[in-house]
Amino acid sequence: MSVDSVFRTRSLGVAAEGLPDQYADGKAAKVWELYIGDLQSRTQEYKSWLVALLRRHGVRRVLDVACGTGVDSIMLVEEGFSLVSVDASDKMLKYALKTRWNRRKEAAFDQWVIEEANWLTLPEDVEKPAEGFDAVICLGNSFAHLPDFKGDQSEQKLALNNIASMVRPGGILIIDHRNYDYILETGRAPQGKNIYYKSDLTQDISTSVLWVNSKPHMITLDYTIQVPQAALQKLPEVSKFRLSYYPHRLEKFSELLADAFSGAMEHTVYGDFKAYRPAQTQAPCYFIHVCRRTA
Ligand SMILES: C[S@@+](CC[C@H](N)C(=O)[O-])C[C@H]1O[C@@H](n2cnc3c(N)ncnc32)[C@H](O)[C@@H]1O
Repeated sequence: MSVDSVFRTRSLGVAAEGLPDQYADGKAAKVWELYIGDLQSRTQEYKSWLVALLRRHGVRRVLDVACGTGVDSIMLVEEGFSLVSVDASDKMLKYALKTRWNRRKEAAFDQWVIEEANWLTLPEDVEKPAEGFDAVICLGNSFAHLPDFKGDQSEQKLALNNIASMVRPGGILIIDHRNYDYILETGRAPQGKNIYYKSDLTQDISTSVLWVNSKPHMITLDYTIQVPQAALQKLPEVSKFRLSYYPHRLEKFSELLADAFSGAMEHTVYGDFKAYRPAQTQAPCYFIHVCRRTA
């Protein structure tokens, strides 16, 4: 594990040991819900797309492998899906567990399963239904958090294999990443509304790219959030947190996905939830991959 990678993957001052939990200092967890905006507006942006897609594929049982504070999972529990939600960060899970507790009198929330799990050890951490889950989701640019410590993407391949192994034949994996092709080519994120996050409170996101052996190895975003009056008692006026990402390129990531399913998949790419055409003029902020296991 290179020192650079460790240094770059966490807010400054957090000890480095094993696989980094970038949320371990609780800084991002505390302001995450402020950063992503109110659930209602996030919901309007993509709930109908996601729910329609899941229904079209006859999905009932969903595994959310990056549930974080629970935003996507809560939305789907409310829509009647049966959820198993996991995440490697107890600091993030704390918020999901709190919501489950507060809403425990609603049957759907009482049955909501929340566990700590890591993509690198997913088959040991998650109880898989006999055939697998109808759908597995990994959303909000989460997968890009996994670094490439060995420089051969072997950990990312292992994680994707583990995630794909949870999908039943005929089931789907929905996984996304930012448009890193555009970020690497232009040095900035594409213009346009962030489809996931209502970032009205975001004062600044500064970007730095770490190159190793002439290859982009890691992108670090430093977020500065202006905390609104109502939350000032709990948080300072300005909150800062740092997150790092592996910059997945669309073509290479598509190949990794095909390998994870041993080629037995139908693959559709969406750009900001619309059918994506490589020649289109408007660069999407996010790519969302939908992989249907065919065998
Ligand atoms: C950007 S947050 C997204 C949370 C949520 N899906 C959302 O969109 O708000 C990314 C989440 O991925 C989780 N994560 C990162 N690496 C992980 C790993 N190796 N195994 C499991 N979860 C991981 C982090 O702990 C974090 O909660």
